Amino acid sequence: MKTLLRIDSSPRKSTSISRQLADVLQSKLEAEVSYTTKNRDTYYDQLIHLGNEDSVTAYFTPENEQTATQKEAIKASNILATEFAEADTYLFAVPMYNFSVSAGLKTYIDLISRAGISFQYTENGPQGLLKNKKAYVIITTGGTKLGTEVDHVTGYMTTFLNFLGITDIEFINSDLIMTNAEEILEGAKTKIQNLSL
Ligand SMILES: Cc1cc2nc3c(=O)[nH]c(=O)nc-3n(C[C@H](O)[C@H](O)[C@H](O)COP(=O)(O)O)c2cc1C
Repeated sequence: MKTLLRIDSSPRKSTSISRQLADVLQSKLEAEVSYTTKNRDTYYDQLIHLGNEDSVTAYFTPENEQTATQKEAIKASNILATEFAEADTYLFAVPMYNFSVSAGLKTYIDLISRAGISFQYTENGPQGLLKNKKAYVIITTGGTKLGTEVDHVTGYMTTFLNFLGITDIEFINSDLIMTNAEEILEGAKTKIQNLSL
């Protein structure tokens, strides 16, 4: 059975628009494709930032040479990066925070982008290791229009996913929610229902 990995990145829960839309898409994916779903919540899972020298140096130290402190520091990243690499389909729920992604999502990305697991260095530069994957990216914004020069979410998510080898990306935009919430929300839900999987 295929694995769907859903990644939420809003600190809001019941009032979160990105979570609400992700619920709709998750239900559709599970109804139309046979998935085992795993969830990661970049706020409520209490992810640990790369907060000290050990955690960063461990990234660049072969496992058999890592100190006990480095092994401990990299433990969560190993689990998250392996889980990410093993998934078939990704569902990202991404609120725009100050023109970019939220800090929770950035922390998660720093933990799962790992040489030897999700990408590798080659003579020709870095190369993504994740092949034949599909990513759905739901983006919500309050007053910033997606696709304009101040949208640093769409390009960032595309670059990061492409970097890991994921090129099949479906964006579901729900921008300018502060202007006409109901209509925009309904438009995004309709787009989700009409997606051919
Ligand atoms: C800290 C913070 C920063 C935000 N920055 C932006 C922004 O730069 N542009 C924008 O259009 N909306 C911004 N918003 C609004 C959110 O993108 C919007 O409320 C979105 O629906 C949040 O997703 P959620 O409903 O899933 O929490 C910000 C909200 C917060 C709390």
